Amino acid sequence: MVGSALIVGGDSQIGRCLASWHSAVGHRVIATTRRTETLAEHRQLLDLEAGHTEVIPFADVAYLCAGATSLQCCHKHPEVTRRVNVESTVQLAETLVRQGTFVVFPSTNLVFDGTIPFVRADAERRPTTVYGQQKAEAERRLLELGDRVSVVRISKVLSQSYPLFDAWRRQLKENQCVCAFSDMGIAPIPLEFVVELIGTIGTRGLCGIWQASAREQVSYYEIAQRLADRNGGSNKLVSGVSAIAYEPLNGVVPTHSTLDSRRLSAELGFSVPDSWSTIDRTLDCVIDRSRDE
Ligand SMILES: NC(=O)c1ccc[n+]([C@@H]2O[C@H](COP(=O)([O-])OP(=O)(O)OC[C@H]3O[C@@H](n4cnc5c(N)ncnc54)[C@H](OP(=O)(O)O)[C@@H]3O)[C@@H](O)[C@H]2O)c1
Repeated sequence: MVGSALIVGGDSQIGRCLASWHSAVGHRVIATTRRTETLAEHRQLLDLEAGHTEVIPFADVAYLCAGATSLQCCHKHPEVTRRVNVESTVQLAETLVRQGTFVVFPSTNLVFDGTIPFVRADAERRPTTVYGQQKAEAERRLLELGDRVSVVRISKVLSQSYPLFDAWRRQLKENQCVCAFSDMGIAPIPLEFVVELIGTIGTRGLCGIWQASAREQVSYYEIAQRLADRNGGSNKLVSGVSAIAYEPLNGVVPTHSTLDSRRLSAELGFSVPDSWSTIDRTLDCVIDRSRDE
């Protein structure tokens, strides 16, 4: 029985929603933050760059949502981000597992190189980005801690806001060209789906590797065109470009971002919504926001 949850990275997109999810079912929630001005009894200071503190509150389940999540930042600062995403994260998990906490680690499809569609959970990790390498190493070391750990690999999470889409919308409004990757895409999952999934795995203590992505991959170019069409702009302003020159990719464009998500439906009865419904919901919010400007 779970009565308490610790959200490591309480200000993260996923962590914030997980906190609400647990609170809504009456669990005690403690979150960590590095924003000193927001500290409170249920918000404790934790900066993984400074190293993790041994004093971490007990909770039945903990979610490791804090980390350097930008591909660009990990590429530019590999050492500092490795300390955060690997060393401190693993040390923290060791403490938590020792305390008897069940630990959930959200991970990414970027632990793979994107050559295989619907890549299986037990496939060899082959990261090509620094971020992917760090997540892959953290995964491997966390799973060595035993059956009090689960790794949940997820593809791109979409919610009501996605700064890239907002930027495209502004450019289109000003009749500027939008360049979007035509050889790289996403198999997105909605934020609330991710939270329900991760929360269920955490509260039931379901160990091992879980994976979730939509079934269809959609390129950034297709999404930018859809935005132009739906927002009454001209999709002629949208050009497709290759992602090959995008520095953090290190010259390897991941062709596929889909993950074999069959365990979700087989064991939990979850099925990931289709890509376009997820993308359209985000675009609806992007377009709505433009009406307020
Ligand atoms: N969102 C996705 O599409 C996606 C996809 C696959 C996997 N994931 C994984 O899911 C987890 C959560 O992702 P997210 O998108 O919700 O994260 P996010 O919104 O990018 O937030 C990351 C959080 O980590 C905190 N943080 C950064 N450096 C820190 C440090 N040195 N010490 C302590 N906290 C630090 C940040 O604090 P501040 O708020 O103070 O800056 C921020 O709240 C991550 O592990 C990510 O790898 C996410």
